[in-house]
Amino acid sequence: MTAPLTVALADRSYPIHFNESATALKAEVSQLRAAKRSIRVISDARVLHAHPSYLAQAGFHDNEILSLPSGEPTKSVEFFSQALSFLASQAANRDCALFAFGGGVIGDLAGYVAASYLRGIDFYQIPTTLLSMVDSSVGGKTGINLPEGKNLVGAFWQPKAVYIDAALLQTLPPREFAAGMAEVIKYGMLADAKLLSNLEALDGLDASSEELPAVIRRCCEIKAQVVADDEKETAASGGRALLNLGHTFAHAIENVAGYGTYLHGEAVAIGLKLATQLSVHLEQIPAGDVAHVQRIIEQFKLPTQIDEPLKVVDLMAAMQRDKKNRSGHLRFVTMTHLGTAVTTDGIGAELIENLWREAGAE
Ligand SMILES: NC(=O)c1ccc[n+]([C@@H]2O[C@H](COP(=O)([O-])OP(=O)(O)OC[C@H]3O[C@@H](n4cnc5c(N)ncnc54)[C@H](O)[C@@H]3O)[C@@H](O)[C@H]2O)c1
Repeated sequence: MTAPLTVALADRSYPIHFNESATALKAEVSQLRAAKRSIRVISDARVLHAHPSYLAQAGFHDNEILSLPSGEPTKSVEFFSQALSFLASQAANRDCALFAFGGGVIGDLAGYVAASYLRGIDFYQIPTTLLSMVDSSVGGKTGINLPEGKNLVGAFWQPKAVYIDAALLQTLPPREFAAGMAEVIKYGMLADAKLLSNLEALDGLDASSEELPAVIRRCCEIKAQVVADDEKETAASGGRALLNLGHTFAHAIENVAGYGTYLHGEAVAIGLKLATQLSVHLEQIPAGDVAHVQRIIEQFKLPTQIDEPLKVVDLMAAMQRDKKNRSGHLRFVTMTHLGTAVTTDGIGAELIENLWREAGAE
């Protein structure tokens, strides 16, 4: 039995349950029922199909579950509205507890529904993808996309608890599993050289690897600490922004290639190599680290090069639109060692353009 982790946020602190999570979830549901609270779940059709009895075993009833289509388009105003109506039509009130059972798409959408309905109701995360277990279910960023761009609407709304059951990953397609590994590698690169060397020592990793639960827990520890120190990403430097290592590049790739061409984690993998190259150009780390990072990324069946015909000029324009920019300046996360990251401003456009060309852009 592994003790839960705590995300320390004063009166909004919450536990992340690990291998006892199915039991803890069942106990939470029965406590809510004993208190006569209403319960609702938002999930996606593919997850419910892959795990048809998981929710029933935890004590949820069929009529409490809203099943939405699987995929990124579900994180939209349309499905946000549908989910709100699901709550309102059954007269859910302030004591309603809303659970997300799915990957980052369902977690982000359901979290924003919980933040908005009746000005905020209790929210719980049951992540079902590797990405959502190590990243999106922890930290309280919730939201939806607009046709104009990703994650343009949202709120910080922390869950009351997160229930991580790595057994749910047995049904996750290998490509989705690999995409989650990009975020795992990211944690090693930004905060934990030992995690990175442990990953390197593994001959790949999959849903049945015995090392997986400890790897997931370590990522959650890092994220919990970073979030506790800078919940709303307001630190002038460093802080929660460090979790964006590789992401300034990744968001541009996803935006220009069209969402869905690369999975988010695949774009992050390419971005991690680019962030390493950038750190080398800034003389923050030795040149040999590029090959080292590339080897680790490839070991987990992730790309390090762009293989679509993407234009440098478009990628640069997408970077300028990044909502994390301040006063029109590009901000990057770079490394001063493998395992230590910093935020870096004032990087010239020409250097970034050259890196894009090296990565395969035209
Ligand atoms: N809030 C945050 O801090 C944060 C951080 C990172 C990413 N995100 C968001 O997360 C989203 C991506 O999340 P994701 O990668 O989990 O994608 P996802 O939720 O779309 O899930 C990926 C696919 O796997 C399927 N699936 C999920 N669990 C399964 C399982 N156990 N077995 C079989 N199939 C399963 C889903 O139906 C879907 O088709 C993006 O919208 C991104 O913006 C949010």
